[in-house]
Amino acid sequence: MNNSYLSMIEKALFSYLPSSDIREGKLIDAMRYSLEAGGKRVEMVHTYSLIHDDLPCMDDDDLRRGKPSNHKVFGEDTALLAGDALQTLAFEILSSDKTAKLAGDKACRKAVNTLAEYSGCVGMAGGQMIDLVSENTQAPLDVVEELIGKKTACLLQAACELGCIAANADDEKIKAASEYGRSIGYAFQIQDDILDLTSTNEVLGKPVGSDEENHKSTIVSLLGIEQSQKLVDEYTAKAIAALGRLGGNTKGLSFFALDLAKRVK
Ligand code: IPE
Ligand code: MG
Ligand code: MG
Ligand code: MG
Repeated sequence: MNNSYLSMIEKALFSYLPSSDIREGKLIDAMRYSLEAGGKRVEMVHTYSLIHDDLPCMDDDDLRRGKPSNHKVFGEDTALLAGDALQTLAFEILSSDKTAKLAGDKACRKAVNTLAEYSGCVGMAGGQMIDLVSENTQAPLDVVEELIGKKTACLLQAACELGCIAANADDEKIKAASEYGRSIGYAFQIQDDILDLTSTNEVLGKPVGSDEENHKSTIVSLLGIEQSQKLVDEYTAKAIAALGRLGGNTKGLSFFALDLAKRVK
């Protein structure tokens, strides 16, 4: 991401965290720890999903973005609460008077509804459930596609739709942005599954081989690396095609999709 945008986003992100000089300061420290770890800077909901994803009761991973996972530093109990509190903070911000003043009441309500749907039981959380119930078996293609669509693509769709909603874009544009987000979401997760096999802990900043260790049903365990790589390219092309329907200057989004497809971490 363009560095000036990144620093603007980071400044805004941290401004929403209260000071940790309070009785429950450990919770704020845990929230800040994972938010500060970097990433693609989509939103607090994503950080929450990763904190929970790393917990021993989920993927049991000790490394995230090159640093010990949240529960390794703060304990499982605090990590659980930090995830919960990041999620609710996202909705607190989205439904605040400040946001309503900026985007309008109607857009604000639509944004809350959109994020809730994409992150909830028929979205990301549902996808995480499919991921868990598909362990120790090889799920067929349609199930793996649904799993990826829900656990990963939904949050990217939400991020793209939310930007359009904030700008009061029409339904056609929201649909195009949604298709872009969904496609880069698929490409992103398939690449994630490939890197889990082909990268190293040092480069990736998280434990490689985690999927195999947890006997996950991934697209790579089903189709192999070569076929999966082809799918990354197909979804990337699909994302770029959707930009044509979005209109305006979409060069940055096109580069972003291509960059994601080539990413090594
Ligand atoms: C997790 O997928 C997706 C969500 C957190 C919703 P993975 O389990 O494959 O993600 P990594 O590899 O731990 O980042
Ligand atoms: Mg997982
Ligand atoms: Mg994981
Ligand atoms: Mg993974």
